[in-house]
Order: sequence, then structure tokens, then C-alpha cells
Amino acid sequence: MAALEPTLAGAQAGTSLLRFITCGSVDDGKSTLLGRLLYDAGMVPDDQLAALARDSRKLHAEDPEALDFSLLTDGLDAERQQGITIDVAYRYFHSARRSFIVADCPGHEQYTRNMATGASNAELAVVLVDARKGLLPQTRRHTYICALMGIRQVVVAVNKMDLVDFREDIYAAITHEYRELAAQLGITSVHCLPVVAPGGDNVGRRSARLPWYQGPCLLELLEAADTEATQAREFRLPVQWVNRPDANFRGYAGTVSGGRIAVGGEVVVQPAMRRARIERIVTADGDLSEAEAGQAVTLTLDREVDVSRGDVIADAARPAPVADQFAAHVLWMGDEPLLPNRAYWLKIGTRTVNARITTIKHKVDVNTQAELAARRLDLNEVGYCNIDLDHAIAFERYVDDRTLGGFILIDRQTNATVGCGMLDFALRRAANVHWQHTDLDKDARSTSKGQRPRCLWFTGLSGAGKSTIANLVERRLHALGYHTYMLDGDNLRHGLNKDLGFTPEARVENVRRVAEVAHLMVDAGLIVLVCVISPYQSERRFARGLFGDDEFLEVFVDTTLEECERRDPKGLYRKARAGEILNFTGIDSPYEAPEAAELHLRTTGLRAEQLAEQVVEQLLGSLGLHTPH
Ligand code: ADX
Repeated sequence: MAALEPTLAGAQAGTSLLRFITCGSVDDGKSTLLGRLLYDAGMVPDDQLAALARDSRKLHAEDPEALDFSLLTDGLDAERQQGITIDVAYRYFHSARRSFIVADCPGHEQYTRNMATGASNAELAVVLVDARKGLLPQTRRHTYICALMGIRQVVVAVNKMDLVDFREDIYAAITHEYRELAAQLGITSVHCLPVVAPGGDNVGRRSARLPWYQGPCLLELLEAADTEATQAREFRLPVQWVNRPDANFRGYAGTVSGGRIAVGGEVVVQPAMRRARIERIVTADGDLSEAEAGQAVTLTLDREVDVSRGDVIADAARPAPVADQFAAHVLWMGDEPLLPNRAYWLKIGTRTVNARITTIKHKVDVNTQAELAARRLDLNEVGYCNIDLDHAIAFERYVDDRTLGGFILIDRQTNATVGCGMLDFALRRAANVHWQHTDLDKDARSTSKGQRPRCLWFTGLSGAGKSTIANLVERRLHALGYHTYMLDGDNLRHGLNKDLGFTPEARVENVRRVAEVAHLMVDAGLIVLVCVISPYQSERRFARGLFGDDEFLEVFVDTTLEECERRDPKGLYRKARAGEILNFTGIDSPYEAPEAAELHLRTTGLRAEQLAEQVVEQLLGSLGLHTPH
């Protein structure tokens, strides 16, 4: 899940790197444990230690000698003021044996997305439990999110053992319960240990105060953890860019995400499945004979094959599967809800494609893991969904490989990351439905009609005059001998879209269907006039994307809300104001005005005939013709 990762530099050359996450709340002693870990690993420089002693004395006048280790990690000011952690903080440190990057994330439910971000590239989670309180609902939630994000190794630190008199039975009961929970959530590797964070017991060294615990201390566990649990075993290289400085050199640059390959090895370029052999493995420090996971290299191939950014170069003997429809978990991070059938960018590996969530099968209560029915996903919600892509991709299951199994969803308007997802499996339908080729094409069909097809897309408030104007335009075009068809929102809602209401998700689907039908009609060679409110930019943009550059003309029928309400031809505004109709556009449901419509009709003071004439002129202009009189 590349784009969720922070930019991190400075891992010690030659030593392995473990990324881990800490889960728990300030109350559990999380900051103190982390601070103590840094201290015991010798990572606190002298000047910072002096500052720590000074700050500790200020805060804890009653015990001037004690060091408050939480001050080492509670870096964010707001966090100190509010007493809670508010963002994901990444810290880098190393012990004698290994380098570490720890993601310290807030634990409250409203920060689920932050925690998922921290967990998305971690190999291990340290889950803190307060010995006095035992497992809390948040322990379950944190463990679930870790499991969802692919973490399979957990260290449970049962903290504050001094406050329960170092009792082994209390520790045993907590760890027994945790192991059951982890097993339910599919976490296979669980290590438990009792600690006292401020005292450093079992943090950087084993404690004499807990003689019944014979296992390794926290630092030792972190030094021994598997750092490659979530990588593909087979050779994979998602192509970051094609390097072509001159006609003689053509290399494919990227980071090996799994496995290894040697010069001469046979590879396949996915998803197109073109075969070739590795000719050279080029790096800034000279050529290599082999490349393995984690290395950034440029590959050259022994023959000319078509490779572009986003393709995957894979071991020819064990390529990744290819598909365009999937079942996946999605964690929503956007402030606006996820709406099924809305188009988003989906980025996976180095590839970006168009994607739609076609179905939310259920959402998951992050606290209990109960499966609930859902029509949309709100911020911090997790859903199990079917996803449809506009291009096939090479992929892996997320549990096998985070790079080719994990994706992010990006809002096409704002470019913000609005979700992350974990591919579960490809839907078989994808492999079994093919595109049927037909001999006659759009050109042939439109030429026989003596015209070039167009989609005129009228958008605007209810009662703005869309249908009235389009109707006049159609009559005019018909009189001029053009072949037309009008797709009117109200009329379609009597048949094709009978099952849809006016919630945001219903409108998304309504507009998607209308756009697809308009697309078919343009393919049939017609001039199509579409009249739907189509209140969201996102769906109008999707519609535009279905057509060629000149084929789509957006007509913004701009009539003020006051004027629409004054006209109120169907009496709907009156009902909406009276609360008898909910989700009414302009009243309690938004209308996002177009920013770059081909034609902006300001209707005030003009007759429908005059407005229709403007549309006809615009259309004929796009056909390179003048308006006949
Ligand atoms: S859209 O928002 O999904 O594009 P569409 O154009 O199909 O809407 O349908 C809008 C028509 O449905 C309006 O012209 C109006 O006659 C009728 N209507 C009924 N309820 C609503 C509502 N809540 N909001 C807007 N239009 C409504």
C-alpha cells in the first residue's frame, strides 16, 4: 500500500528493519512504554535526557528523581494538551541488532483510519493491556484492525504489573483471553509478556521482579520478529517508470516487491502476459547479477516487448493472477461517504485504474466484528465489497502480498486518498465474460445516418427547464433531418430506473445507468439529449469519461432556486418545503454546479426558444456547421 507509507529514510545499512505499530491508549501506558524502549535501546541523547529530567520534575514535583518517559514520545503539542494522541507519528530507532520504525497511532474509534495507516506497512503490533483492566473493547478493535491490515505477529505487553502485585494468575487470565481473541481474528503468532513500563521491567532487559516469567523481554522479541511475513515469495516488480534516455537503452525501473530474479531469468509482463528474459539488472552502483525483494533496480529485457508504467514484471513460471473484478475489504477514510457505483481512482502497486464499488455486501462493526447491512460507508467504517475495474490488473491476495493485494482509493475531483482496501479474491465472472466483437461500428452506423453522434447532457435543478429546452432542441434537430433521442430523468424513472429513489447512492446509480444508456445510443450513431438533475460533479465526470473528446457537451441549465420554486411546475418544491418529500435537490440535498460546462445557459429573462437556439448553435458548431435559418 505504497501511498499510505510515510517517507522514511535512514535505515542502517546491513541490518534488518522491523516496522511495528503500538496499540493501546495513553491510559494503558503506551507513550511511557515507547519512551522506555527508546531509553533502554540507548537512543536518547544526553541533551534530551537532561530536558527530560527537567520536564519530569516540573510535572511531577512529588517525585523529583523519576523520569516521565511518556514525555519522550508525546511529541505533539496538541497531544499533550488534550492528553490523547492525535495523529500517526513515525519514529526511527535502532538497537545493536536491528533497526526499527514504530508507528504510534491514536486508539480512539474516530481515529481508525490513522491506525489503519500505521498498520498498513507494519509487520508486528505491540498491544498494550492494563493489568488492572484486562481486555477492553478497544483491545478487540485494535486487534481486528491489525489483522485486517495484514499484521500476523502480535506482542501483548501486559502493563502495570506492579499495580496488581506482580500476580501471575492475573497475567495468565489476560493472556489466555487474548490468545482466544487473536485466534478468532486469524492472528497466528502471539507472544505475551508482563511489563512495568516506567520501571523498565521486561522492556529493554528482563526483570527480577517478575521471576515467574522466563521469556524474552520486549526488545528481544522485536529483534527476533519476522520482517518479511507479508511479501510475495515469487519474483514481482511493479514498473514505476520506463527509462528510455536514447534509442539504445530501454529499462524498466521499480522496486522488487517479492522474490528474486537473476540475469537470464524468464519473466512475463503482466497483465498482457508478454514473455522475455532479463538481459541486465542496472543500478546506480553498477550492474547486478541478481535482484531481490526491497531493491530498486532497472531491468532490461532481451527483446522488444510493450511495457508501461503500472505493469508488473513477474516470474514467468509463477505469474500473478489477472482479473478486473474482486471481493475486497475497504476501510473508508473519506469525510464524504463511499457511494456504490461512484467512480474512484484505484491505485495498486504502481498501477492506477478506474474503479467502482458495485456492491457493499456488508459492513463490519469494528468493535464487535458483527456484520451489518449497509448502503454506503462512512468515515472509519469497514465494508466487504465487490469492486469492478475498467482494466484488468495483475494482483495477489492481500494476505499473501501487501504490494499487489493492497490498494488505495482516490477521489477523482480532489485527488485525496479516501479509502484503502485489501483484495480477497477475484470474482469468477470477470474471467468468464468477454467482449463480443461486432463488425459494424459506430462510424458505420452514424455514417449511414449522415451525422456524427453526440451526447448533449443537460444538468440543473428540478424545474430549471432542462426538459423544456431539450424538447425544443430535439424538434429543431429533427426538422433539420438529424436522428435523435431524448433520455429524460423523470421518464426513465418510470421504467429502467423504477427501483431507484433520491438518496445520494440512488442518484449515483441513476446517473450511471443513464450515462451508460446514452453511451450505447451514441454508439448507435444518434444525437442523444440527456435531461437529469445529475447533481454530483463526480457522476457527470464519469459520464463525460464514457465519450470521445468532442462527443460530450455539458449544458448547465442555470436557473436560481428561487425561480425554480416560484415556477414549481409539479408542486414538488412546496411539498419539499413542507417536509413531505425528503432529499429534495436544492432544499435538503446538494446540487454541485458544473465548473466547465461547454454551455452555461443563464435562463433568467430569456425564453425557452432562445435558449434552445443557443444549444443548437453550440451543437452545430461542434459539428463544424453553421446554424441554418
Ligand atoms: S437525479 O438527481 O437522479 O439526476 P432525476 O433527474 O433522475 O434526478 O429525477 C429528478 C426528477 O424527479 C425531478 O425533476 C422531480 O420531478 C422528481 N423528484 C422527485 N423527488 C425528487 C427529489 N427528492 N429530488 C429531486 N427530484 C425529485
